[in-house]
Amino acid sequence: MIGGDREGPHAGASTGGPIPGARQVTAPAGGLDVAGVGVSFGGLVALEDVSLRVPPGSVVGVIGPNGAGKTTLFNIICGFVRAGSGSMTWEGRSFRPRPHDLAERGIARTLQGVGLFAGLSVVENVMVGAGAHARAGFASALLGLPRSDRDERRLRAEAMTVLDELGVAGSAEQLPGALPYPLQKRVALARALVARPRLLLLDEPAGGLGGEDMDALGALVRSLPERVGGGCSVLLVEHHMDLVMSVCDQVVVLDFGRRVATGTPAEVQADPAVTEAYLGAEVPAA
Ligand SMILES: Nc1ncnc2c1ncn2[C@@H]1O[C@H](COP(=O)(O)OP(=O)(O)OP(=O)(O)O)[C@@H](O)[C@H]1O
Ligand SMILES: [Mg+2]
Repeated sequence: MIGGDREGPHAGASTGGPIPGARQVTAPAGGLDVAGVGVSFGGLVALEDVSLRVPPGSVVGVIGPNGAGKTTLFNIICGFVRAGSGSMTWEGRSFRPRPHDLAERGIARTLQGVGLFAGLSVVENVMVGAGAHARAGFASALLGLPRSDRDERRLRAEAMTVLDELGVAGSAEQLPGALPYPLQKRVALARALVARPRLLLLDEPAGGLGGEDMDALGALVRSLPERVGGGCSVLLVEHHMDLVMSVCDQVVVLDFGRRVATGTPAEVQADPAVTEAYLGAEVPAA
């Protein structure tokens, strides 16, 4: 069945008292709230009445068979797609996302694939990911405009710090195309993290990764809520069940645009509705 025999570190976390070794998710207020969201494309209902919550300091996974609506939900939260119904709240305030001001709101995302600028070095790619103000400085630096060198040096130093955290500082001056794919994915992640987001949206971050890189990604995602200098919560859209089950505090299962289950990894794995959602659909190998 899904996730094999993996129980994950958070198994049974909602069944009673604290689980030894399990990190407790605190603060019911704040974070991201998605309430009753729906959207149709022509006659096709892609999402219907979907709700989920990403509490501060948590990792929440969204899974479901192909076409279930995972990417559509991700796109609604990023503002790429406008919801036809429902509402969202971010850090206690009504939230109408627009892709260009996500960074200012403390939200970052990575897209499927890598999407790096081929003509910029690794460190420059990461510098681009910094906030709007910093980006303006970076742009003027590129154009040779008389702007503070100090700003650019600070930005570069921040980019190097994140690259170092992700183990790719040694490739900072290379072009992304020269790096193996798993390293390119890390650079893309560094670009999302350099602005120190409070929420990170990851769309299939494990796509194209093999065993060891997948393990490293899992450890990294798990560490994000407690990062030095400001942790962030994570919403993880992912096909790889082992990864989802081992890193998530909560999992939301979509099927045909509806939420069919939600709970801890252990609860979701034991839910017959989830089994049913996957019947007939081959579960991708982890
Ligand atoms: N822009 C769009 N226009 C029309 N239909 C769309 C659009 N985006 C998504 N859909 C449809 O909405 C449904 C949900 O698609 P979505 O991409 O969200 O699924 P998914 O769960 O991400 O699937 P996968 O696991 O294959 O990536 C599908 O039937 C898809 O064809
Ligand atoms: Mg998708």
